[in-house]
Amino acid sequence: MAPFLRILGIETSCDETAAAVVERDAEGRSNVLSDVVLSQLDEHSAYGGVVPEIAARAHIEALDTLIEEALQRANVSLADVDAIAATSGPGLIGGLLVGLMTGKAIARAAGKPLYAVNHLEGHALTARLTDGLSFPYLMLLVSGGHTQLILVRGIGQYKRWGTTIDDALGEAFDKTAKLLGLPYPGGPEVEKAAKSGNPDRFSFPRPLVGEARLDFSFSGLKTAVRQAATEIAPVSAQDIADICASFQKAISRTLKDRIGRGLQRFKTEFPDIEGQPALVVAGGVAANQEVRGTLQALCGTHGFRFIAPPLRLCTDNAVMIAWAGLERMAIGVAPDDLDVQPRSRWPLDSNAEALVNYGKRGAKA
Ligand code: KG4
Ligand code: ZN
Repeated sequence: MAPFLRILGIETSCDETAAAVVERDAEGRSNVLSDVVLSQLDEHSAYGGVVPEIAARAHIEALDTLIEEALQRANVSLADVDAIAATSGPGLIGGLLVGLMTGKAIARAAGKPLYAVNHLEGHALTARLTDGLSFPYLMLLVSGGHTQLILVRGIGQYKRWGTTIDDALGEAFDKTAKLLGLPYPGGPEVEKAAKSGNPDRFSFPRPLVGEARLDFSFSGLKTAVRQAATEIAPVSAQDIADICASFQKAISRTLKDRIGRGLQRFKTEFPDIEGQPALVVAGGVAANQEVRGTLQALCGTHGFRFIAPPLRLCTDNAVMIAWAGLERMAIGVAPDDLDVQPRSRWPLDSNAEALVNYGKRGAKA
């Protein structure tokens, strides 16, 4: 039986600085003692996106205090944790360096083992922390930097079934918002505008729909939005609402087709799975009600359980990094050497080839 373990987690791969203390008991149950996240949104919003240099500096300024706060809130000292887990990729290299170096320094000074965690593994294993999910299951990660459908077979056993060949879904939302003059981050703004729009006014493309491969493509959709907006310029508030509603409808239809095929493939590959199969969603786009509704309905149709962890744990946080470290430690995976290097690109599935432009934004996950 695995021992009771407690880990300090550190996350700095993009524009959130985060630290958390999490426990795992012998039965694999989690207990989040603290969860501190500092978003850099205000620092980047004027630029319409994340500026790597600003992000790295902001991580340096905030991280030490944040770690102290996480320990204090958890009411533990470094002596009380069994290990340190720090994100070491994929992500923006400056931020990764800050978090991983800090993790190494703490590990060295406190004489604790260090786990260099893949950020995507953090997202992939979160549903085990929140819902005690057993392997195997499917995970859809839809964030500002990634759109991936991943088969999670076990700790360290991931197979990427699909990925975007161009823009990530969150990126498509952000770019659409930008060209309509809506503020950054655009996803929530597009969703808000869509509420009073006509989803049938524009017929936007549904890329790759009908194809057997499970990949995604969203850049054509963005181009179609630009064309539509240019043709009817100047756009009124109602035009913007209609474009947003039509854009979301195209996305919803695309997801229905792509993910529907993924669920079918899962059932074919795992016909004898114990209990109900599950689809887990993670990433900021999981906040979108239409996306959620589409996935939920799809799961209903295919007999899958739909798991959407609380938004705080769907978006970037250090709890998931601590948990990924705990999961590895619990099954006896050796800690990393202190000379481990950060990796801006680090696919979860090491056999999966990078597709066109994959991870071009610096693998913001
Ligand atoms: O996971 P996340 O917080 O950060 C990373 O990308 O790491 O995801 C942010 C992305 C942004 O592209 C944002 O526009 C999108 O998630 N997003 C949404 C919504 N809320 C956030 N997209 C659509 N609808 C939303 N309500
Ligand atoms: Zn992420």
